[in-house]
Amino acid sequence: MDNIRDEEDGGSTARRVLVVGATGYLGSHIVTHLRRAGYPVRALARDPERLAEERERGVEVFAGQVTRPETLDGLCDGVSVVVSTLGVRSLARKPTPWEVDYQGNLNVLTRARQAGVRHFIFMGVLHGDEVRSRIPVLEPRERFIDALRQSGIAWTIIRPTGAFNDMKAIFDQARRGRVWLFGAGKARINPIHPADLAVEVERYIEDASARNTTYDIGGPDILSYDEIARMAFNALGKTPHISHLAPWIMDATSQALKPFNPTGAGFLRFFRWVITSDMVGSPRGQIHLRDFFAHLASQNKDGTD
Ligand SMILES: NC(=O)c1ccc[n+]([C@@H]2O[C@H](COP(=O)([O-])OP(=O)(O)OC[C@H]3O[C@@H](n4cnc5c(N)ncnc54)[C@H](OP(=O)(O)O)[C@@H]3O)[C@@H](O)[C@H]2O)c1
Repeated sequence: MDNIRDEEDGGSTARRVLVVGATGYLGSHIVTHLRRAGYPVRALARDPERLAEERERGVEVFAGQVTRPETLDGLCDGVSVVVSTLGVRSLARKPTPWEVDYQGNLNVLTRARQAGVRHFIFMGVLHGDEVRSRIPVLEPRERFIDALRQSGIAWTIIRPTGAFNDMKAIFDQARRGRVWLFGAGKARINPIHPADLAVEVERYIEDASARNTTYDIGGPDILSYDEIARMAFNALGKTPHISHLAPWIMDATSQALKPFNPTGAGFLRFFRWVITSDMVGSPRGQIHLRDFFAHLASQNKDGTD
C-alpha cells in the first residue's frame, strides 16, 4: 500500500477517499475498485442499505442527502480525496440537474473545503464544455466544474464518453429482435466499462501530474452505432434488424415535452446530440464491448452486470 500513502501526512496514513454517487453505475464500480486496491473508502448514500455489501467488506457508509446540507456534517472529515459521480440521469421532472449536479455537488465541495480535502475528482461529460450553450441540461454540471476549478482545491476533471450501460440498452433491443437508432448510425463512440474508468480514477489519485488537469477518455474500441448494433445481434446469434429514425422526431418530442417537463426535454436533446455526434475520447482500458455482449448473451434474459 506504499503507493497510496498520504505523503503530506508524513506517509503515516493511507489516503481516505470519499465517493459521492457511490450507489450509481459509475460510482459503485469506483467504490469496489478503490476498496480492493486498499484505500480506506467512505461512501455517501441517501439509502445506506444500498451499500450493505460494501459495508460488510470494510467501506464506511455515510448516510446523507446532498440536497440537504445539514445532513452532511462530518462528511469530509479525515478525507484526502473526493471522487464525485453524483448527478441526475433521468427524464423525471424533478429533481433538476440544477438541484443535484450543481447544488448537490457544491454542497459537497463546501464541506470538502472546510475539512481541508486536498484533491477533488469530478466526472464530467465528454465535450460538455463545448456544447453547454447548445445543450442546456449540461450547464449545471459545467457550472459546477467552473466552481471546482476556482475553489482552491486541486482538481481533476474526467470527461468520459458513454459507458457500457448505454450499450446494454442497445443489446436489450437486439435481444427483443430490432434495434432502433436515431440518425444514420454512423456516429462513432468508444464506450468505456466503469471498471476501466475506476482504474483511471486510481491513477489520477496517485499521479501528481493529474492535478488541475482534464482527461477526455473512452474505452479501447472505436465503433459506429451500426457496428455496435450488429455486434449485439452477433453475440446473440441473431440476424441484425436495425431501423434508423429521423433525429427530428426526437427534436419534436423534446419541444413538445418542454412546457411540462423541461428536465426530460433537456435530456432528450442531450441523447439526440450524443447519438448523432462522434463521442470519441482517448482510448483507455482493457474491457472490450464484444466480450461484454458475449457475457450478456450467456446470461438469463434479466441478467445484468
Ligand atoms: N453512465 C454514463 O454513460 C456516463 C458517461 C459520461 C458521464 N457520466 C456522468 O456521470 C454521472 C453519473 O453517471 P451514472 O451512470 O453513475 O449515473 P447513476 O447510476 O444514475 O448514478 C447517479 C448517482 O447520483 C445519485 N443521485 C442522483 N440523484 C440524486 C438525488 N436527488 N439525491 C441524491 N443523490 C442522487 C444517485 O443516488 P441514488 O442511487 O440514491 O439515486 C447515484 O448515486 C452522470 O450524471 C453523468 O453526468 C455518465
